[in-house]
Amino acid sequence: MPRPTRDDFLLDPDLVFLNHGSFGAVPAVVQQAYEGLQREMERNPVAWLQRRAPELLAEARARLGSFVGAAADDVVFFPNPTTAVNMVANNLHLQPGDEVLTTDHEYGAMYRTWRKRCAEAGASYVRVPIPVPVSTAADFVERVWSAVTPRTKVLFLDHLTSATALVFPVAELCRRARAAGIVSIVDGAHVPGHVPLDLAQLECDVYTGALHKWACAPKGCSFLYAHPTAQAWLEPLVVSWGWESDHPSESQFVDYHEWQGTRDLSPFLAVSAALDFCNTHDWAGVQAEGHRLALLTRSRINALTHRPRVDQSRLDRVDRPARVDPPSRSCRRGGVEGAALPRASHRGAVARVERAELRPGQLRRTQHRGRLRRAGGCAR
Ligand SMILES: Cc1ncc(COP(=O)(O)O)c(C=O)c1O
Repeated sequence: MPRPTRDDFLLDPDLVFLNHGSFGAVPAVVQQAYEGLQREMERNPVAWLQRRAPELLAEARARLGSFVGAAADDVVFFPNPTTAVNMVANNLHLQPGDEVLTTDHEYGAMYRTWRKRCAEAGASYVRVPIPVPVSTAADFVERVWSAVTPRTKVLFLDHLTSATALVFPVAELCRRARAAGIVSIVDGAHVPGHVPLDLAQLECDVYTGALHKWACAPKGCSFLYAHPTAQAWLEPLVVSWGWESDHPSESQFVDYHEWQGTRDLSPFLAVSAALDFCNTHDWAGVQAEGHRLALLTRSRINALTHRPRVDQSRLDRVDRPARVDPPSRSCRRGGVEGAALPRASHRGAVARVERAELRPGQLRRTQHRGRLRRAGGCAR
């Protein structure tokens, strides 16, 4: 099977493009399909948007659902994970004293979303520090879980972190959260097309992922998955025709969130073209090669900067992400590997949990079971 080459993309020939994580590059054939959809719409905008688009969206959701391991009606397209998480955060009826638990690896836009939401509700935003490298998946799980209190209402976790490129072992934490009645929300923005995803195996309440990073889809192609029990409390961020619909479909979740007023639906519908491109271009081989090159680059940087050498056995275990959660006990890295540092003690981590106690109109950061830390803002 052919691997993609530079000629498959529309990139400036003088550019060495490495950052699909911020905004992915789109292959020419996917761009063509995307523009083709726009042209199809413009041939008869009313007929297309009113009659053709709903059918195409249902097909696209089915394709997306089979790619991520979810039923077609349990996923809806969103333009990006930021919008999706804002919708979810606005639906949580947080009370003063409630806690939203996360780590200090979350993405800056999410950090701000949760801080604002917590401030409005008088809730606390609790960030567990995760020093890198993380020693084992079990250690990571205990580190995060030890910060759960009776006030914890929400667990917000990155699946593949942005700045640190870590694959967090989210499955066990989601399982524990469900058993404890805590809402689990996973930010998998970087996961689709980067590491395999099977939502059927992940007991999270809500998951968001972007297709416009590593899965070659046009900008504005992302999704939100919600477990059927979570769908019941997810009111639309943008209220439109699907709320108290005159013609309800079988899924209130889809009715509420899919139609958000007139907008370009083509990025969502181009998901099939993007996934076809990955399927016909040895994407598993591309992922393996990308990982190999990242490791090679790291060792060259280590050699140049005289940073400590990385333990080779650790690299063997993280050779290539193959499942949602690591088969080994180690927390694997996504795209980039860091140098091995001493393992931090679990007790130490708990002592350093940062807690922001938020009241409407004010922000006060205090320390949870430990010494005061400087208010640091976003980790990015
Ligand atoms: C971990 C993570 N979450 C969320 C996002 C937000 O993505 P978007 O800007 O498409 O909403 C990003 C963007 O890079 C990210 O890295």
